Amino acid sequence: MRKIAVIGAGHVGLITAAGFAKLGHPVMAVDQDKAKIETLRSGRIPFFEPGLPELLSEVIASGRLSFSTRIKDAAEFAEVIFICVGTPSRGDSGESDLSALEKVTAEIARNLSAYCLIVEKSTVPALTGEWVKHTLKTLGPEGASFDLAANPEFLREGSAVSDFFKPDRIVVGVESDRARGIMEEIYGSFSAPLLFTDIKSAELIKHASNSFLALKISYINAVSHICEKVGADVNLVSKGMGLDRRIGPGHLSAGIGYGGGCFPKDVASFMHLARSIGYDFKILSAAFQANQEQKQRALEKIKKGIWNLNGKIIGVLGLAFKDETDDIRESPALDIVRLLLNEGSRIKAYDPAAGANAVADCPEIMLCQNPYEVAEGADALLVLTEWPGFAELDFARIKSLLTAPVIFDGRNFLPREKLQSLGFTYLALGRP
Ligand code: UGA
Repeated sequence: MRKIAVIGAGHVGLITAAGFAKLGHPVMAVDQDKAKIETLRSGRIPFFEPGLPELLSEVIASGRLSFSTRIKDAAEFAEVIFICVGTPSRGDSGESDLSALEKVTAEIARNLSAYCLIVEKSTVPALTGEWVKHTLKTLGPEGASFDLAANPEFLREGSAVSDFFKPDRIVVGVESDRARGIMEEIYGSFSAPLLFTDIKSAELIKHASNSFLALKISYINAVSHICEKVGADVNLVSKGMGLDRRIGPGHLSAGIGYGGGCFPKDVASFMHLARSIGYDFKILSAAFQANQEQKQRALEKIKKGIWNLNGKIIGVLGLAFKDETDDIRESPALDIVRLLLNEGSRIKAYDPAAGANAVADCPEIMLCQNPYEVAEGADALLVLTEWPGFAELDFARIKSLLTAPVIFDGRNFLPREKLQSLGFTYLALGRP
């Protein structure tokens, strides 16, 4: 077992820390946010992630997971330090803000004593490792002994715990046999293929993977447009495409577009990196543009279904950027809510987990306790996040509560035939 520290107790950091502790390693999770660390010490989680509260309680009780707010403690404790701090976008240029990463690296450097393997797990543009090494060398003590590895994380919010333990692959960029040996040992019990690369390639695999998935979503959304025009069903087209093993069914569901804390910023950052080296990444800018337009397309579709939006009460189910999360960052559902508010509509909404976050961001939303309260007196119902429970509602009851029986399925997952037989006007993107 290796003594591991994880810097940054956000979504990736916390699951990494708890996951390695579960596997038997002594782990210290570090975050500068004192309130967050206090919350975690008491076994509570500051965000919604299925399975994480149970995992966290288990590893805290086992004594293998400890917490601190000081990087100095991490450097004294650990042989391996995973850096999992945020790398948000800097303004509109798409450039990643790497200042938190730099600050943490500098602090680790100042506290280096015995050999340490520093692992970059934050999502970063290629070449970041060069700066991390430079910082460790220049700010670390004379002759400091360290290695750098890049180990991008591929877990998804909502299924993060199972993604951590059962990844499709593990990618590790290394520059020394010693670093490779340690990472082989840490990931020894995982059944996924372990791919060793150089550091730049590992960094690039993360951006290229997220951007490719975003591109795949924009592609099927563009196909949904064609489906609509020719009278085909994008769900069937997607199914038919996905059965080809070279294409695969994942991330091929058409809807109101991708969002979240990763795809939008990673696509922007990858395009920024490309621009900075003189390459115009046109295929990616087209995917980005298509994703923006998809929300406008949804608005036009809603308009066609209910005529004037001004003064209408619109019911919305789902505000999170996807199901099984309370995360509203870059949520396409919230983007559509804002477009509707601009048109003069009033919004009643419900989300199983993200309601409070959404209202904090967009106080005009009238938050309801359940889907039926949303439907009561609304002129149309929009389902904008694919929470599975939304497909199993009592739609006859919903219809009796709505002022007009109009439903917009922003994720193409509601029981269309059933809704139509109940007399709903069913609107979707790419379904006849
Ligand atoms: C994404 C990647 O899937 C993870 O592999 C990666 O580790 C993570 O970003 C990250 O970089 O940290 P996540 O943002 O949690 O994970 O969510 P996804 O499940 O990928 O969904 C992203 C967005 O695409 C959501 O808005 C979702 O509704 C949308 N989506 C997804 C579609 O519109 N269609 C699909 O077929 C799939």
